[in-house]
Amino acid sequence: RDRKRQEGVNLLELSASFFRERLKMPEGKGARDYLATRGLSPEIQTEFGIGYAPDDWEALKRHLSAREIPESVQIEYGLLVHREESGRTYDRFRDRVIFPIRDIRGRTIAFGGRVLGDAKPKYLNSPETPVFHKGRELYGLFEARQANSRMERLLIVEGYMDVVALAQFGIRNAVATLGTSTSEDHLSRLFRMVDEVVFCFDGDRAGRQAATRALETVLPQMIDGRQARFLFLPEGEDPDTLVRREGAETFVDRIACASPLSEFLFDQAARGRDLARIEDRERYASQVLMAIAQLPDGVLKSLLLNELSRRTGVDQARFEALMARAESGSR
Ligand code: UTP
Ligand code: MN
Ligand code: MN
Ligand code: MN
Ligand code: MN
Repeated sequence: RDRKRQEGVNLLELSASFFRERLKMPEGKGARDYLATRGLSPEIQTEFGIGYAPDDWEALKRHLSAREIPESVQIEYGLLVHREESGRTYDRFRDRVIFPIRDIRGRTIAFGGRVLGDAKPKYLNSPETPVFHKGRELYGLFEARQANSRMERLLIVEGYMDVVALAQFGIRNAVATLGTSTSEDHLSRLFRMVDEVVFCFDGDRAGRQAATRALETVLPQMIDGRQARFLFLPEGEDPDTLVRREGAETFVDRIACASPLSEFLFDQAARGRDLARIEDRERYASQVLMAIAQLPDGVLKSLLLNELSRRTGVDQARFEALMARAESGSR
């Protein structure tokens, strides 16, 4: 099994350097121009190991096969696609800018590839493989650790481009989930490294929905001493477009002003409700109470209950009793 794994690691590194070399060759001109239009400097491209998969059905397959990597292994690690019907095999990544996804130790474990234009799908990722589990990995985590001897907080953004663009502007603590929502697994990994995470999703409907889901996921992990905050971007912006438009300093100010979890929690529950009306206040209180119930016991939980009581005029002991009853009722 170890030999098998070594074979996989080897093939992924061979592929990563293949893609990097192709970016420098004449056939990589289109990709280099594309990266230039996206404003990515050659230095940052090198740091993130960005490459190019040529516009060819078998370029990587030839390269790896010539190095005695069996096609079965190339398929297993997601580089080669096997068509059942025809029995043919071909390169998964073609004519795309390639972002290597690295594990915490810097080993390449998968790839993301972006089309140079507007074709669909915009991004293609490696499938699940023996070394790549989408729901666990975070793009940019290795690079963030390399760039910082100590990190106070990590920023969770949506995309590859957001991570790299922020890094180019000197904001070197952003990581991205890989086309999945933020999982408990992601958060417990991050909280082992830092005490604070800042969610910074795109300023669109999907981004706001992602923030709501992230709130639910982070609640059970909020042991005292940890912080989670939420940075909402102007409509139509993502971290990449915004840092380019406004510059690093303004973006850093935005991070400093991001809403703490408590604020987002109450604001979210108040949205679309008229708290002068008793019925709306009941819904509001129930929603906040359900969220508070997800928190581990601690000071934050007590403070939020107290604040809910202050905001609704209901005795805190009442809320505690309701919460206890809901908990025993659900068992
Ligand atoms: P976005 O559509 O916000 O991409 O998707 P982006 O990073 O802003 O891309 P650019 O700026 O147009 O290059 C956010 C993330 O969702 C995943 C990718 O991980 C992407 O970075 N995604 C998106 C996919 O996996 N496949 C897709 O087709 C689109
Ligand atoms: Mn798996
Ligand atoms: Mn978006
Ligand atoms: Mn973008
Ligand atoms: Mn985006």
